[in-house]
Amino acid sequence: MEQVIRPPESTRPTAARRPPVKLAVPAEGDDGLFTQSWFPVALSSELVAGEIVGTEFLDGKIVLFRAPDGTARAMSAYCPHVGADLSVGKIVDGHVQCAFHHWEYDEQGFCVKTGVGDPPPKSACLFMFPVRERYGIVWVFNGETPLFELPDLPFPDDELEMTAYRFGPTLRCDPWIFAANTPDMQHLTVVHKIKFETDQPHELVRWHDHGLEFSYRGTHQGNVPMENTAGIRGTSVFYRWGMYDGFWRCNVTGFSLPRPGRHNVFSCSIVRKGPQAAEQLEAVLAVSRRTVGEDKDILDTIHYRQGLLTKADKSLARFLTYMRKFPRAHPSAEFIN
Ligand code: FES
Ligand SMILES: [Fe+2]
Repeated sequence: MEQVIRPPESTRPTAARRPPVKLAVPAEGDDGLFTQSWFPVALSSELVAGEIVGTEFLDGKIVLFRAPDGTARAMSAYCPHVGADLSVGKIVDGHVQCAFHHWEYDEQGFCVKTGVGDPPPKSACLFMFPVRERYGIVWVFNGETPLFELPDLPFPDDELEMTAYRFGPTLRCDPWIFAANTPDMQHLTVVHKIKFETDQPHELVRWHDHGLEFSYRGTHQGNVPMENTAGIRGTSVFYRWGMYDGFWRCNVTGFSLPRPGRHNVFSCSIVRKGPQAAEQLEAVLAVSRRTVGEDKDILDTIHYRQGLLTKADKSLARFLTYMRKFPRAHPSAEFIN
C-alpha cells in the first residue's frame, strides 16, 4: 500500500483554513492611469533614419522616428485629422507625413502643412513623449516631464562595450512585477541561487523617491563569486553592476508596457572595453538568458498580490508599499487611442 507522508504535527497550521488576506497593488491601467516611469519601446538599432516605427504603449499606440538631427522621437500614433495611423505614413523632408491626406508633423509634433494647402488647424498636434536613447535602447517616459532619469554607471559610456537585445515572448504581467523581483530576497535565494555574504541583506537596501539600490557580496549558483550593486529605477528599470567571475559586468534592463498586464524584456549587457570584451559580453548574455529563463514561467502565469509574507520579505513588502504610492498619470490618453 502506498505510504502517506504527513508533516509532523508541530509544523501543521492550526488555524482554520482560510484564503490569504490579499492586499492589492494597483494594476497598470487601473482607473485609466499608468505609473510614471521610463519604458523601453525599441532597440536603437531598430530606429532607422527616414523610417517610422509604430508600437503599442500604455493603452494605445505611438510612433517612433528620428528627427533630422538623428535624435529619437516618440509621438502619439493617430492623426488628429480623422485618425489615420501615422506608422503607415512616411518621413518627408524631416516631417511625419500622414498617409491619408498628407498632413505633415514637424519634429515637435505640430502640424505644419496639409496635403491640399488648407492652413492646418491651430490645435493640430501630436502628443510628444520625453525620450532617452541610452544603453542601445529607446526609452519613453509616461508623462510630459520626466520625474527622474535613467541610471548612470560608474564608468563613462565611451569606456564601455555594450550589446542591447530583446528577450523572447511577451510576458503576461505588468512590468513592475518583474521589477519586484529585485527586492524579493526569497526569490533571489531559491530561484537564482544567490547566497549573500551577510545574513541581513535587507539592511543593505537604500531607498529613494524613485527607486532602491543595494550593494552586496556573495556567490551565484554554487560558487561564482560576485559583488553586485543592484537597483530599480521607477517601476520598469533594473540595473546591476560589479565584479562577476573575475571581471566587471553590468546589465541595464527595461520592462516595456505595450498594454495593461503585459511586458517585454529589453536588456543591455555591458563590460569594460578591452581585448576580452567580446568574450565577456557573450558570458554576460548567457547569464542574463539563464536568469530570465529562471523567472519566465513564474512571471508569465502569476496572479500577483500581496498575500502572506514572512520576515525574509521585508524589502519586498516595502517595494509593494512604494508601488502603491508611485505617481500615476496618463496625459497622452486622448492622443494615443
Ligand atoms: S487622417 Fe491624417 S491627414 Fe487625414
Ligand atoms: Fe528573478
